[in-house]
Amino acid sequence: MQAMRVVVSIPGEPDYDVRIGSGSLDELGSALRRVPGLAKSPQLLVITDANVERLYLGRAMDSLANAGLTASSLVVPAGEGAKSVEVAAEVWDAMAALGLTRDCAVIALGGGVVGDLTGFVGSTFMRGISVVQVPTTLLSMVDSSVGGKTAVNLEAGKNLVGTFCQPVQVCADIATLSTLDEREWTCGLAEAAKSSVISSDDFFFWMVENASAIFGREEELVAELIKRCIVFKAGVVAQDKTESCGVRECLNYGHTLAHAIEALAGYGTYSHGAAVAEGMRFAAFLSQGLVGCEPDLVEAQGALLDELGLPPLGWKADARDILTAMKHDKKARGTGVRFVCIRDIGAWELVSVDDETLLEALEAYYA
Ligand SMILES: NC(=O)c1ccc[n+]([C@@H]2O[C@H](COP(=O)([O-])OP(=O)(O)OC[C@H]3O[C@@H](n4cnc5c(N)ncnc54)[C@H](O)[C@@H]3O)[C@@H](O)[C@H]2O)c1
Repeated sequence: MQAMRVVVSIPGEPDYDVRIGSGSLDELGSALRRVPGLAKSPQLLVITDANVERLYLGRAMDSLANAGLTASSLVVPAGEGAKSVEVAAEVWDAMAALGLTRDCAVIALGGGVVGDLTGFVGSTFMRGISVVQVPTTLLSMVDSSVGGKTAVNLEAGKNLVGTFCQPVQVCADIATLSTLDEREWTCGLAEAAKSSVISSDDFFFWMVENASAIFGREEELVAELIKRCIVFKAGVVAQDKTESCGVRECLNYGHTLAHAIEALAGYGTYSHGAAVAEGMRFAAFLSQGLVGCEPDLVEAQGALLDELGLPPLGWKADARDILTAMKHDKKARGTGVRFVCIRDIGAWELVSVDDETLLEALEAYYA
């Protein structure tokens, strides 16, 4: 497979490359040698989780050593629990004990959890050192490794403490996706489907056409999917780097109901991707009454999600409980619940929906 390169250009930030290839983990060292500043970095620290350590850490370290780079590694527990202030403090202590300086860099080898944690510790240690993202889940390749959001969780909620910090390079080796189980695979597919719906006809209908081969992990198509998602996300982030002017909020399409489902059903009961897919179904349903989305589009989106292994959830709760959970979401602001609605493919709108309208829609959707 021919390796691909996407250049991410965000105003006020240095451009960075996203490299998408198969087997490219073995070229990580030589790729990083070409990143300004990193070739002379006295020390790199690879942060990974216990699952990814077993599978890919050895190859990453060999590649860095073969390129003449000095690197050490640190393993955090696998799972969302590692995105905590406590784990971040342990990593900061380890970075200090290793003698990392301003010209060193951290490398996130893993999924979105490792990526968010590493971005957070890297962007805060000594007021910020370089961060490299080496995503190994589909979700992190299509979404979290690009755009610069970093975070840890608090008791009070997910992602409540974090920074905006763009990486200096992203290296996605799609061969690492072969070890991902179906639950994690479809989590990435849900975010990719979301991007296609809010992006353009071209992306959405390409995804519809290739859905079953993408679900079947056909390499060339998966690489193309990742590229399309990154190009789309980079374009959104370029317009609204710090989620301050409403553009970046489009990436929350499907997430308002998803967060409520995850909270009400209990975290982990459904995968995040399954909840997002259900959230997209509801958002499209709601969009019919609010912004004139055509029923054909609701159906086309539903068919795409089915093909991607994301069928309707079959989960129900009292509409009032769902509304209350939506209002607790940290992204809810002021009165009403802010929904990303779609008028058409690629034509989204932020709508503040009052309680009564939302209750009626939830009742109709779950009837
Ligand atoms: N920063 C952002 O813009 C952004 C965007 C979306 C999501 N996120 C965050 O991303 C996180 C979710 O990321 P995720 O879905 O990648 O979860 P994850 O990082 O927990 O990875 C999922 C599981 O897969 C394992 N794994 C990783 N790579 C593997 C591989 N190649 N083969 C086998 N197993 C592998 C991990 O050890 C873990 O058990 C959440 O914390 C979310 O808040 C951040």
